[in-house]
Amino acid sequence: MSLDRKFTLTDLRAARNTGTKVPMLTCYDFTTAKLMQAAGVPALLVGDSAANVILGHETTLPVPLHFMIQITAAVRRGAPNAFVVADMPFGSYHGTTGRAVRNVFRMVQLSGCDCVKIEAAESQLPAVRELSDAGVALMAHLGLRPQAVGVLGGYRAQGRTAIDARAIVDLAVRMQQSGAAAILLEAVPAEVSAAVVSATNIPVIGCGAGPACHGHVVVTHDMVGLTEHPPRFAPRLGDIAAPLLASFREYVKQVSDGSYPAAEHGYQMPAEQKTLLAANLRNSALPNETVAK
Ligand code: KIV
Repeated sequence: MSLDRKFTLTDLRAARNTGTKVPMLTCYDFTTAKLMQAAGVPALLVGDSAANVILGHETTLPVPLHFMIQITAAVRRGAPNAFVVADMPFGSYHGTTGRAVRNVFRMVQLSGCDCVKIEAAESQLPAVRELSDAGVALMAHLGLRPQAVGVLGGYRAQGRTAIDARAIVDLAVRMQQSGAAAILLEAVPAEVSAAVVSATNIPVIGCGAGPACHGHVVVTHDMVGLTEHPPRFAPRLGDIAAPLLASFREYVKQVSDGSYPAAEHGYQMPAEQKTLLAANLRNSALPNETVAK
């Protein structure tokens, strides 16, 4: 997939109709965003998984809104042609509809994202309606909702009983009716994503949710071998930890044994300036020599 023009919500909707699958990866910084755009990744999710893989927290709950705005803006700068989805962090869209709407507006205005993702619950339907009326493309995240770990009691697959599966399908439909532009389904059986796809007419992105989805997202760090315990649905497509470790070890060695820095790493001083400096140092005290006297 080439990214020589911007990938938009229209392209995402078209993928639903044509059957073209949309690859999406999480991204948290400018440099990686540039690489992903160069590789033709059309959609980037600035996930609150940044709390885990960037900030080192156990859960996604502690990441603040201002941090998500900053890193989303960095990803936007790195990948101007990608469809950038920004995650709203825990607490930033809860409390009142007005507060949710204000914080989503802040995210959109300050980060330049194309779409905003919230973890969906019944109580957010009024905010989804207001935001979509205001023209915000909203992605509703259903299934495993990591921000709800407190009530879910752990990170485990959702929708494994007929009743739970039905509740996910019904909520997806209500999110669409309230104006959601897309659905993200995390860690559900393939039957659930197939049912959501056939009950709705907006694009459905899966994250460990089976083949029926119109696109698929995984946490990049899981895919490239940077995390120790990736979920089983994440494909292991690289091991960049090994070359990074090798470079870090080599740097430690070279600084320790004095082979770095070598002549080629330094800046040169013209010969006459060297002579002048030597004379100057001979003729006048250095500031710390003055202090010592
Ligand atoms: O924050 C994130 O990375 C996500 C994906 C796991 C879907 O929400």
